[in-house]
Amino acid sequence: MKSEFLDVAIDAAAQAGDLIRSYWGKSFKIEKKSEIDLVTEVDKKSEKLILSIIEKKFPQHSVLAEESGEHLRSKDYLWIIDPIDGTTNFAHGYPCFCVSIALQVKGVVQTGVIFNPLLNEMFTAERGQGAHLNGEPIHVSKTDALISSLLCTGFAYNVKAAKANNLNQFRQAVLSAQGVRRDGSAALDIAYVACGRFDGFWEMNLKPWDMAAAVLMVEEAGGKLSLLNGGTFDLFGKDIIVSNGRIHQELYNILNSTAVGPTA
Ligand code: IPD
Ligand code: CA
Ligand code: CA
Repeated sequence: MKSEFLDVAIDAAAQAGDLIRSYWGKSFKIEKKSEIDLVTEVDKKSEKLILSIIEKKFPQHSVLAEESGEHLRSKDYLWIIDPIDGTTNFAHGYPCFCVSIALQVKGVVQTGVIFNPLLNEMFTAERGQGAHLNGEPIHVSKTDALISSLLCTGFAYNVKAAKANNLNQFRQAVLSAQGVRRDGSAALDIAYVACGRFDGFWEMNLKPWDMAAAVLMVEEAGGKLSLLNGGTFDLFGKDIIVSNGRIHQELYNILNSTAVGPTA
């Protein structure tokens, strides 16, 4: 049975998705948060809408949202929201972005929803209840060798300045896997590991709102999470590996091989 939390998250993601879709193909205001980090008026409107739906239903809950930051109330309930994950794609008219909404209860993510409004794909997960895509159960892939794996990664907005910029890891992965994609929406990329479209994903410098909902999906779909350095996964840990489990060690090995240079 779906919880009230999941119902509200689905409703908020669907309404935000309708709003985002209504701007698709139209012009909208785009600002820069830094040289290559964009925010559109649609990101802000989507976040406002999601917050209004959640706060109306759960006025005592805390919220951590990308564009408006932290609103601390309850110690136990924290909603983690990315109003558009894949803003650069959205701003350029590249059809790969989503809404991501997660609920953490006492520090553990219990509910996650990711909605791709263009494909009408609603990924949902509740801890202990499995992960679903449009209501059907999803599972990670069974691929058991890196050379047969389709991987995905991304590059953070500090890529031009950071010493650990993921370029060496990217090179190693291209040379070791069947293919590597850079799709520009970490939340969707990770959800695609949950449903078996990708076998593995890694990235550096992610924020909790990029991954909170998606990593629950991977756990519920039978996959594995860790920090890039092999440590126990942590939502605030920034540098992560996500996989179907079977290729995790091999992926960890190439990303941490001496050939790649600094990882932090
Ligand atoms: C970004 C996307 C991108 C990833 C960046 C994220 P945004 O989020 O998920 O794929 O490479 O690290 O910041 O800015 O589109 O919400
Ligand atoms: Ca994001
Ligand atoms: Ca965003």
